[in-house]
Amino acid sequence: MASPGYLRGLTVCAALLAVILARASGIDIFLEWNVVLDNTIRPVTVEQSVITINGMFPGPLINATTNDLVHVNVFNNMDEPLLFTWNGIQQRLNSWQDGVSGTNCPIQPGKNWTYVFQTKDQIGSYFYFPSINFQKAAGGYGPIRVNNRNVIAVPFPKPEAEFDLLIGDWFYDSYNKTRSMMASMANIITPDVILMNGKGPYGHSLSKAYESFTVTQGKTYRFRISNAGSAFSFNFRIQNHKMVLVETEGSYTNQITMDSLDVHVGQSYSVLVTADQNDADYYVVASPLLLNTSSPGGFDGVGVLHYSNSLTPVNGPLPGGPDPFDLDSSVNQARSVRWNLTAGAARPNRQGAFNVTNVTLSQNFILDGSNQEIEGAQRYAVNNVSYYSLSTPLKLADHFLNGSGVYQLDWFPVDSVNAKAAYGVSVVTGIHKGWIELVFVNSLNTMDAWHLDGYGFYVVGFGNGLWGPEARKDYNIYDPVVRSTVQVYPNGWAAVYAFLDNPGMWNLRSQSLKNWYLGQELYIRVFDDDPNPAKERPPPNNLLLCGIFADESEAPASEPSPAPSSGW
Ligand SMILES: *[C@@H]1O[C@H](CO)[C@@H](O)[C@H](O)[C@H]1NC(C)=O
Ligand SMILES: *[C@@H]1O[C@H](CO)[C@@H](O)[C@H](O)[C@H]1NC(C)=O
Ligand SMILES: *[C@@H]1O[C@H](CO)[C@@H](O)[C@H](O)[C@H]1NC(C)=O
Ligand SMILES: *[C@@H]1O[C@H](CO)[C@@H](O)[C@H](O)[C@H]1NC(C)=O
Ligand SMILES: *[C@@H]1O[C@H](CO)[C@@H](O)[C@H](O)[C@H]1NC(C)=O
Ligand SMILES: *[C@@H]1O[C@H](CO)[C@@H](O)[C@H](O)[C@H]1NC(C)=O
Ligand SMILES: *[C@@H]1O[C@H](CO)[C@@H](O)[C@H](O)[C@H]1NC(C)=O
Ligand SMILES: *[C@@H]1O[C@H](CO)[C@@H](O)[C@H](O)[C@H]1NC(C)=O
Ligand SMILES: *[C@@H]1O[C@H](CO)[C@@H](O)[C@H](O)[C@H]1NC(C)=O
Repeated sequence: MASPGYLRGLTVCAALLAVILARASGIDIFLEWNVVLDNTIRPVTVEQSVITINGMFPGPLINATTNDLVHVNVFNNMDEPLLFTWNGIQQRLNSWQDGVSGTNCPIQPGKNWTYVFQTKDQIGSYFYFPSINFQKAAGGYGPIRVNNRNVIAVPFPKPEAEFDLLIGDWFYDSYNKTRSMMASMANIITPDVILMNGKGPYGHSLSKAYESFTVTQGKTYRFRISNAGSAFSFNFRIQNHKMVLVETEGSYTNQITMDSLDVHVGQSYSVLVTADQNDADYYVVASPLLLNTSSPGGFDGVGVLHYSNSLTPVNGPLPGGPDPFDLDSSVNQARSVRWNLTAGAARPNRQGAFNVTNVTLSQNFILDGSNQEIEGAQRYAVNNVSYYSLSTPLKLADHFLNGSGVYQLDWFPVDSVNAKAAYGVSVVTGIHKGWIELVFVNSLNTMDAWHLDGYGFYVVGFGNGLWGPEARKDYNIYDPVVRSTVQVYPNGWAAVYAFLDNPGMWNLRSQSLKNWYLGQELYIRVFDDDPNPAKERPPPNNLLLCGIFADESEAPASEPSPAPSSGW
C-alpha cells in the first residue's frame, strides 16, 4: 500500500493513484460495453425497448476479486443520456465513479466514457443498473461478483458452481411510456410480471423462453440472487429444496436453513442449494409480496431447477410460499439475518472486529418517505421534500465552486417533516468519521427499501408505527448484519448505523424505482478538508462537464422543470 507520506505534495492524477493502490493486490479488468435500446430481444412477447449491453439482457457479469481495478468503457448508443451505478460497490474515496445524477454528468448519446473503480476491501454479490431517466425499467442491469482473495477463507465449502440470478418485476409497456405516465398516474402504475435473468415465467402465455439451471444430484450450488426490479419485493423458493443463507451484499451471515427467502428491491443474497432430491425438474419461484396472484394470468417469476439426469419435466401447481400479506413472518426472517462474527471479511480480520455495541452516535436522521402531490404532479418525498435533480452534478459544484451557487448545504430537515410538501435540492452534511443513525420511516402502505451509496450500514432494528428513541433499547447491537439496502415495511421503520469514514458525495435513495424517479432521495456530503489525494481522490482525468460547467461545444443537458420551490 502506498503510504500517504509518499504521495503528499505530488500531483498524482486519479488514474495513476488508482493504479498504484490497485497494484498492492488486485488486477486490472478491462470491459467494453455497447449499450443500445433493442426492440427485438423481447423478454415477453410484446413490442418494447429493452436496454442491452453487448447484445445481452441481463448485461455481462463483472467478475472481480477484492481490490481489483475495474475499467468499464461504456459506449452509449441509445437515443438518450445514460449513467450506470454499481449498487453496493463502495467507491472508496472515489464518489467520482458512483454514476448517479449528483456525482456524474451523463454519457451523451453517441459518446463513450470509461468508469474506473476499485472493489476495495469488499467481497460479495451486487449488481449494476442504469441510474437515471427511469431506464432501469428497461433492463440494462447485470450481476457483479467480488470474490474473496485466495488468502481469505470463504466460510463454507466451495460449491460445485455459482449461478447469478437477477430477478425483477417488468412492465409490458416500454420504459419511456411508463415514465411519461408517472407524473399523473404514479399511484396506479404497477409492473405486470416477474422475469428471471431477463426471461419470462415458465408456462406463461407471453414467455418465449424461461430460465433453467442444470445441477447434478448430490452437488451443492451457490445462487447469487438480486432483486433488480422496480417495485415488488419477492419471496424466493425452490420446490422441495432447502436453502442455506450465507451472504448478503458483502457480509457473510450466520448460516441459516430456509424454505424461502424474501428479497427486496435492490438487495442481493447468496444461498447454497444442495441437489438432494430425486432426478427430476423442480420449480424455482419468485412471488411478489403484498400482491394477490391467485388471479388468472399469474405474476410469479418461474424458472426450473433441472437435474442433469432428469427425464421428468416440472408439473402440477407451483410450490406454495408464505402468505404474501403476512409481513410479521417477513420481519422475523429479516431479524434472523445476522452477521457471522467469526467469518473472515475482505481484510484479514474477522467481521466481528467492527463492533457497534457501544458506539457514540454523532448524528440521527429520521427520514420519512411519502407520496405527495406537488404543483399538480405526483411526487415522492423525504420529510416532505421531493428531490429536485440539477443538471449540474453536486460533486462538480463541490470541486469547482465548493458547492456555492449550485446547492445550499444543510437546510434539509433531517429529523422532522415539513408542513407542506415541496421540491428541494437536499444535501446534508454527514460528519466525517462520525457514527450516524439513519431511521427510515415508511408512511405508505407499500414496501420500500432504502440504499446508501459509499458505505455498508449495520441493520440494527425494524419496528411498526412511528420510531422513538425508546426503540433503541430493542436494537440488535450485538451482531447486526452489514449491507447497503434495507427494506422498510408499510407503516413501519428500519434503523441502521453507519460509520462515515468515506469522504464524498453520497446518494441516499429509495430503491423503489418510481419513488426514486419522483424524488425520494437526498445526498449526504461527507467532507474531509485534508487535500491529500490519499484522503479523497481528485477527479478522474476523463471528467465529464455539464450543467453550468458545460463545454460550449457539447449539447447541454436540459434542466428539468418545474424549478425548486423550497429550501432555496
Ligand atoms: C471469476 O473469477 C475467479 C477468480 O479469478 C475465477 O476463478 C472464476 O472462474 C471466474 N468466474 C467466471 C464465471 O468467470
Ligand atoms: C472512448 O473509447 C476510446 C476507444 O476505446 C478510448 O480510447 C477513450 O479513452 C474512451 N473515452 C473515454 C472518455 O473514456
Ligand atoms: C418511446 O420510444 C420509442 C422508440 O424510441 C418511440 O417510438 C416512442 O414514441 C416513445 N414513446 C414515448 C411515450 O415517448
Ligand atoms: C386473493 O384472491 C382470492 C381469489 O380472488 C381471494 O379469495 C382472496 O381473498 C384474496 N386475498 C387477499 C388477501 O386479498
Ligand atoms: C461462521 O463462519 C465460520 C467460518 O469462519 C463457520 O465455521 C461457522 O459455521 C459460521 N457460523 C454460522 C453460525 O454460520
Ligand atoms: C462488543 O463490545 C462489547 C463492549 O465493548 C462487548 O461486551 C461485546 O462482547 C463485543 N461483541 C462482540 C460480538 O465481540
Ligand atoms: C466501549 O466503551 C468502552 C468504555 O467507554 C471502551 O473502552 C471500549 O473500547 C468500547 N468498545 C468498543 C468496541 O467501542
Ligand atoms: C467549503 O465548504 C465547506 C462546507 O460548506 C466549508 O467548511 C469550507 O470552509 C469551504 N471551503 C472554502 C475554501 O470555501
Ligand atoms: C406534508 O405535506 C402535505 C402536503 O403539502 C401535508 O398535507 C402534510 O400534512 C405534510 N406532512 C406533515 C407530517 O406535516
